[in-house]
Amino acid sequence: MLRLTDYEQEMLDGKYGKLKKKAIENIVKYANVLGAEELCEVTKAHVFAGAHSYLHAVESDDIEEVISEMQFCSKEKISMEKVGCFCQTDCGPMDPIKYKSMGCTEAEGIKNKEYLDYYSKFGIIKVGTCVPYLTGFIPLMGEHYVTSESHAVLIMNSLFGACGNADGLEAGYWSAICSRIPKWGNHIMENRKGTHLFNVDCKIKTKTDWDLLGYTIGRFLPTHSIPVVQGDLNSIDIIFLKYFYASMATTSGPEMCHIVGHTPEAKTLEEAFGGNEPLEIKTITKADLDCSRKLINDQSEGKIDYVSIGCPHLSIEEMQQVANFMKGKKVADGVVFHVWTAASIKALADMNGYTQIIEESGALVLTSSCPLTSEKKPEKAYRLAFDSCKQAHYIKSSTDAPVHYGEMEVCMQAAIDGEWRLI
Ligand code: F3S
Repeated sequence: MLRLTDYEQEMLDGKYGKLKKKAIENIVKYANVLGAEELCEVTKAHVFAGAHSYLHAVESDDIEEVISEMQFCSKEKISMEKVGCFCQTDCGPMDPIKYKSMGCTEAEGIKNKEYLDYYSKFGIIKVGTCVPYLTGFIPLMGEHYVTSESHAVLIMNSLFGACGNADGLEAGYWSAICSRIPKWGNHIMENRKGTHLFNVDCKIKTKTDWDLLGYTIGRFLPTHSIPVVQGDLNSIDIIFLKYFYASMATTSGPEMCHIVGHTPEAKTLEEAFGGNEPLEIKTITKADLDCSRKLINDQSEGKIDYVSIGCPHLSIEEMQQVANFMKGKKVADGVVFHVWTAASIKALADMNGYTQIIEESGALVLTSSCPLTSEKKPEKAYRLAFDSCKQAHYIKSSTDAPVHYGEMEVCMQAAIDGEWRLI
C-alpha cells in the first residue's frame, strides 16, 4: 500500500497546479503497478527532449497538445510548468546548428528549436547529451535521479552510488515536474547486490577492450541481473567505462554493475554480493571478446563512405586525441566523417583549437545527437564504420550495407584512406 507525505497528497489534490497533479497521478499509478510503498525525492532529471519522430504519433502542430499527450499521457492540453528539480536534456534528433549538414530540412530544424525553447522556458536546460555526467549532472551516493539514457543509469548507479532505474521517457518528465519517483528497484540499497559473477581472464587495457568486455558480458547476462566483474582491471578510467557500460546496456539491460575493488559498493567481492552466493559464475576469455568483435564487424573490406565516432559522446580528452590524429590529414573524397560530442564539450574543443583542426581535415564535429537518435540515419551509405559497439550493433539492424567496428584510430584511418581493410 503506497503511503504519501502531506506534500505529495497536496500535489495529488491539485494544490500546486494542473501539471504537477497530472505528473504525480502518473507516478502514483506507476508506484502501484510496481508495488512501491513510498515515493522518493528526485533531485536531478535527464529527459529526452526535442522534436523526436515518435512525437508525430500525435497529429498536431500544437506543441503543448503533443507534450500533454506524449509526455504526460493527458488527452487534455496542459501547459508546462517550472520543473521541480535540476533538469537537462538528453540527445536530440539533430545538431541544433549544423542540422542541414546532417540532411535535416529547415522546417525540421525550426521545429526542433521550438520544442527545445519551449522546454527551456520551464527550466529544462538545453544540454543535448547522453553523457550528462560529463556536463554537470553528477548525482552523488544515495541521491535519487532519473535519466532516459541506458548507460548513464549504469554509470551513475555503479560508479557514483547514486540511485536510479531505467524508467522510460515519460516517467522522466513526470519526475522532473513533481520531483518524485517510486521508491523501488535501485532506489532501495538492499536491491543493489550482485547476482552474477564474471571473472575476466584476459588483458583489458584499451578503450576498445572495455567496449568489447561490456558487450560480451551483456551477451551472457540474463535479464534482471546485476553483474559483478573482477580481474586485472587496473586500466579503469571514466572514459573507458562510458564504452563499457554503453555496450553492456546494448546486449542486456542491467542498471548496476559492480567492479570489484573499483566501484564504491564493491570494495570486496563479499560486499558486492552482500553475503549471497553468485547465481552463476562465468569466465570471460579473449576468445569471447574476439567473438563479440566478429559479431559487429562485417568480415569484408572495400571502399567506405560513412565513418562516425562519438558514441557515447566524446569527452574533451577524446576530442584532443581526434585532433592530434587528424592534424594535417585529409578525409578521402566521398567520405562523410562525423565526430559527435556534447555542445559544452565542443565549446571547449573550439576554445582549444581542436574543432578547427578536425574540421580542416574534412570531418564534421556535430553535437546533441548521433546516427541512432537522429532522424537522419546514413541509410544510403554503402559501407559504414563505428568505434563503438553500441552504435555498430544498432545501425547494423537498420541497413543492408556492411557495418564495421574498430578502434577509434582504425576508423579515422579508414576515413582518410576511403577504405576499410580487414586486419
Ligand atoms: Fe549516445 Fe547515441 Fe550512443 S545517444 S550513447 S551517442 S546511441
